Amino acid sequence: MWQPPQRIPFIPAPGRIPTRVEAAASRLFSPLNFGPVQLSARTWVPAMVPWRADPDGNVTPAVVDWYARLAEGQPGCIVIEATGIRDVPSGPLLRVSHDRYIDGLRRVVDAIHRHSEGKTRAYIQLIDFLGVRRRPERGTYLERFLTVSEAHRAALGMEGASDDVVRRHLLTLDDAALEQLLNPRQWEALQKGARERVTDIELPHIRNLPVVLPELFARAAQRSRDAGFDGVELHYAHAYTMASFLSATNTRDDGYGGGRFERLRLPLEVFRAVREAVGADYPVGCRMLAEECIDGGSGLDDAVFFASGFARAGMDFLSFSRGGKFDDAKQPKVGEAVYPYTGVSGYECMPSYLSDANGPFGRNLAATALLRKALRDAGLMTPVVVAGGIHNFEQAEAALAAGVADIIGSARQSLADPGWWKKLREGRGETVRQCEYKNYCEGLDQKHKDVTCQLWDRVALDEPGLARSRDGKRRLVAPADW
Ligand SMILES: Cc1cc2nc3c(=O)[nH]c(=O)nc-3n(C[C@H](O)[C@H](O)[C@H](O)COP(=O)(O)O)c2cc1C
Ligand code: SF4
Repeated sequence: MWQPPQRIPFIPAPGRIPTRVEAAASRLFSPLNFGPVQLSARTWVPAMVPWRADPDGNVTPAVVDWYARLAEGQPGCIVIEATGIRDVPSGPLLRVSHDRYIDGLRRVVDAIHRHSEGKTRAYIQLIDFLGVRRRPERGTYLERFLTVSEAHRAALGMEGASDDVVRRHLLTLDDAALEQLLNPRQWEALQKGARERVTDIELPHIRNLPVVLPELFARAAQRSRDAGFDGVELHYAHAYTMASFLSATNTRDDGYGGGRFERLRLPLEVFRAVREAVGADYPVGCRMLAEECIDGGSGLDDAVFFASGFARAGMDFLSFSRGGKFDDAKQPKVGEAVYPYTGVSGYECMPSYLSDANGPFGRNLAATALLRKALRDAGLMTPVVVAGGIHNFEQAEAALAAGVADIIGSARQSLADPGWWKKLREGRGETVRQCEYKNYCEGLDQKHKDVTCQLWDRVALDEPGLARSRDGKRRLVAPADW
């Protein structure tokens, strides 16, 4: 992953630890009631994919155990990992793309409710994403994947030559010559793996996204409600389809790209279809970017426009993340796919302990504060969730007191110590294990391996009946007495 060149090390600290009485009187552990959003506390575990589903996207016992363990911390809400809305093979990514997934997902909801003693709401994040291919071998790309065109023949002076002859010639060229010859998308496909964009409207399935997505999201939301989820979060953030529609890089000329109004159009149409499917009494919100953090990407002004549009349309919450884009991702190794958390924008999304002077803790606070203020100034009271490096009570409470957000999201700290919210609430904050923000978990996510935490995944491996990772070396959930 990219790191700021300053590489200043930051060590997470427990901050001022509240007594049980202080915690009970705190903002953080006070309930939140906004329309259908009814939380026992303003504590939130944002979506994290742990790669526990089976190859067909079904819930496995390991998925249930993972969420049961997180629920023991009794946060106000756990958002279940990004879950696919299309009924197409997508590896071990959870899916809600057909009714056959409902029973499995219901087991997750039940586990969250039971293990939190009814204190935690279970929301689900609904995702759509476009095709991304692995970086090919040079020879394989030139011999098989590249579509040889007349432009190539003309540039090479090989008019009339067969595809095979052109390909054989291409194989003899060095990289500099190839870069001259291939168009930018072909060069990118060779260097990083081919990646679809929402702007590829010459492809029928991309042109038709505005036709198919509202219905796909709506049906997935309906199934989520049927499975017992307490709410849905539309994934409008990071590198995926809906964020790409919102992005300033979306230049579609069919009324769904270009200006802010047009970029907002499909995300609003999706929301309206979802609302129609699940009803007015059911929490529906989205996760979106405060800033894309890429050259030429959407900034805070865009986010204010989009967030206000969503709030006016009746979203029940807005969760702000930042960055996490493909645009500036590092070149993957041959055989691997590009990962959207490896560039500057990736750092902004999941900052690690080596940082610049701003540090990794709370990099999204300032932008989120501005967004919330803009919403409130416009008379929009939609609850706002912030996340990014928040790992202790003092920091969380200060953010709430300062009006940065209404709800505090904490992903990696909850992975490091799933019970940490409960420990704080009970005045046992000194026993919280602090996330180190070295992003071992993220490295596993990148490889689609079972996500675990380096603080606990080798602890008490002799425990009888212990469930282990596919490589057999790691435990899958934090020990019970962690
Ligand atoms: C292993 C892992 C998986 C993640 N998966 C998702 C996801 O499915 N959807 C999402 O919106 N964010 C995802 N994220 C990003 C987190 O929700 C969060 O925004 C990010 O880690 C920053 O918050 P933190 O500093 O509290 O960890 C993931 C993060 C990690 C570490
Ligand atoms: S592996 Fe554990 S300690 Fe390291 S960043 Fe991830 S959650 Fe934090």
